[in-house]
Amino acid sequence: MDSNLVIQPHAGGQAFDQSQVPLYYSRKTADILHKYGPGPRVHFHMGLFAPGETPNTTVSQRVLKRRIIASQEAIVEHAARTWGAYATPPASLLDIGCGVGGGSLYWAQEHGAEVTGLTVAAEHVPLIRRFARQAGVGDRVTPLLADVHDYTAPRGFDAAYACESSGYLDRERLFEVVAKALKPGGWFGIQEHFICRPEWTDFIDAYYKTRLGTLTEYIVAARAAGFELEQDEDLTDRVAEFWVQSMAWNTAELDRIEHTGAPAAWSRERLRESTITHGKLFRIWRDHALETRLLLFRLGGGS
Ligand SMILES: C[S@@+](CC[C@H](N)C(=O)[O-])C[C@H]1O[C@@H](n2cnc3c(N)ncnc32)[C@H](O)[C@@H]1O
Repeated sequence: MDSNLVIQPHAGGQAFDQSQVPLYYSRKTADILHKYGPGPRVHFHMGLFAPGETPNTTVSQRVLKRRIIASQEAIVEHAARTWGAYATPPASLLDIGCGVGGGSLYWAQEHGAEVTGLTVAAEHVPLIRRFARQAGVGDRVTPLLADVHDYTAPRGFDAAYACESSGYLDRERLFEVVAKALKPGGWFGIQEHFICRPEWTDFIDAYYKTRLGTLTEYIVAARAAGFELEQDEDLTDRVAEFWVQSMAWNTAELDRIEHTGAPAAWSRERLRESTITHGKLFRIWRDHALETRLLLFRLGGGS
């Protein structure tokens, strides 16, 4: 069955239309590059701040951007460190839902991994290839246009990584696919947002086209596929600040467009909508209505 055609109910109660995901990302690519670029390591996920760190937002847009990108790098680096990748780097890694490749390039550049990145957005593939060449890891990063639900690879990856992509996926299927792709004893690291207060789920899912789930749902699906949960770190309080910094960047961008008439990657309407939404997102994270966690699962069968 073509999984793009599947419209499924999920925890939030709304139907999930998977065909919207590639469309959403095609429309967003220019926005992502403008806000989080120029690369070569471009991420599209939340970023990590030090505990209690609330940097002053009355600074230039350039400073805000640098800070946002640094926080995105910081969470990837934090995950890699706590998951033991500095001590035992994975020789091969499957990057599930790799976006424009920031994570894939990170694993190839910083840990020497051979990375296969999966994305459902066709225009991300040539972009990732270009970024990987620029970063000097063109021979180590292989982006593939593939829906992870249908992905079959020969078993053999040391590790798999899903950074803010599992929220788009059927979790039972995701863990089954990853269990087949990993070597026995391999690890699967996830950065994701988990539902705690369901009254916000429909709002978030409608905005990001996701189908977020609960932590319990992940653990049950993982166990069924032969994984054990090894680490579970709640970073909600340390990522909430990302919304404040991101909102400040949006406001600065609106000012820039309105006062200079400069060409805009984002339409004014889209920027205004995003800026208003950021206020709600900050409150959702501050109140722990959703929680951002790093999870490390290990596949059984290793030594
Ligand atoms: C929020 S972005 C995160 C991108 C990247 N991991 C990062 O952290 O920068 C979510 C990504 O999931 C990918 N994605 C969503 N559904 C997918 C699917 N069914 N199969 C493969 N990738 C998928 C999208 O193409 C997008 O690149």
